[in-house]
Amino acid sequence: MIEYCPARADIDLDALGDNIRTVRSGIDGQKIMAVVKADAYGHGRAEVARAAVRAGVDFLGVAQLGEALALREEVGSQPRILTWIYAPQAPLDRALRAGLDISIGAPWALKAIEEAAHATGICAQIHLKVDTGMSRGGFDLDALEEAARRTRILEEAGLVKVVGLWSHLARADEPEASTTAEQIASFEEARTCVARSGIEVELHHLAASAGTLWHPSTRYDMVRPGIITYGLSPNPRVATARELGLRAVMTLSADVILERVLPSGRGISYGHTARTSHTTRVGVVPLGYGDGIARTASNRAPLLIAGQRTHALGRICMDQFVVALPPSARAGDRAWLFGDESFGLPTADEWAEVTGTIGWEIVTRLGARVPRDYHGTGEDTLTVS
Ligand SMILES: Cc1ncc(COP(=O)(O)O)c(C=O)c1O
Repeated sequence: MIEYCPARADIDLDALGDNIRTVRSGIDGQKIMAVVKADAYGHGRAEVARAAVRAGVDFLGVAQLGEALALREEVGSQPRILTWIYAPQAPLDRALRAGLDISIGAPWALKAIEEAAHATGICAQIHLKVDTGMSRGGFDLDALEEAARRTRILEEAGLVKVVGLWSHLARADEPEASTTAEQIASFEEARTCVARSGIEVELHHLAASAGTLWHPSTRYDMVRPGIITYGLSPNPRVATARELGLRAVMTLSADVILERVLPSGRGISYGHTARTSHTTRVGVVPLGYGDGIARTASNRAPLLIAGQRTHALGRICMDQFVVALPPSARAGDRAWLFGDESFGLPTADEWAEVTGTIGWEIVTRLGARVPRDYHGTGEDTLTVS
């Protein structure tokens, strides 16, 4: 455990709660599964999950079975948790004892859950996953009829209960792409096929953030938003976080550890990819690619220091990088890397734009060395009862 770090990620759980309420007010009464995989997109799984529960989500979703087992310990017996990534030989018996909902998207997984249900005497709550066009996980439509037939037999034997039928969209963040309509059509086929087998599905779910926002017909019975709950846009070219009424949950900052004046003609950092063309005040920010700051942010990374916008100079190193220092800035001032646009800060989406990636990656890859400092609870403090 590292006890001191000049950098910090402030995590605003009230912003998370507000974003969840914004999602809720934009849909039509569907259930909400808050997606808290990958350590809640780098924000901290336990704290974010508890805040999401306080904000009233119905389900939590994590990719990996190991994350789901840890999450169950962190949140207690409620709410329901769906997990969808595990390999043959995974401890599905533990998953059942932890009361997890489990995605089933391959014949071997159906067999494995049958065995775990036998071994534990627990009826498995499962969500059948169908591949509607992502070509990643899930039963092919061709294989679904047989899978549904087999699942129905297991249901009759009391070994499984089909809670959900689900899939994932590949291009919902591109509202004009015809792919989403094609995926909806495939999902409808899957629904019909599963219903024909006699299985009664409680929850059909297809939409992550972009589907939730931009394809209302993908909302079905439950939506699975991730990135919008963290206050970032699934596609800032379609609508920015601010335009969507979202608030950034993570603010990343660090103390400037050094101020100095470099003469004209000095190369800066590894490779001398920047060189001063005049006498230049620079500072050093103690964050680097060891903390998840992309090396592609070299010479580009936007920051706010002493109330002024500035940028990185030269290569991002493992633990630090050089910045152009505004005239009034001093060592010890706070350098704000990204956060809420309404406070004048650069956004994670802006970092994504300048580094050629997506907002998801900017927040999720923030390293464990940076402490997360939690604020707020996620509860609705504005509602007067
Ligand atoms: C299956 C599934 N559902 C929902 C989500 C949440 O996605 P987003 O962050 O785009 O809302 C993800 C994340 O990739 C996912 O894999």
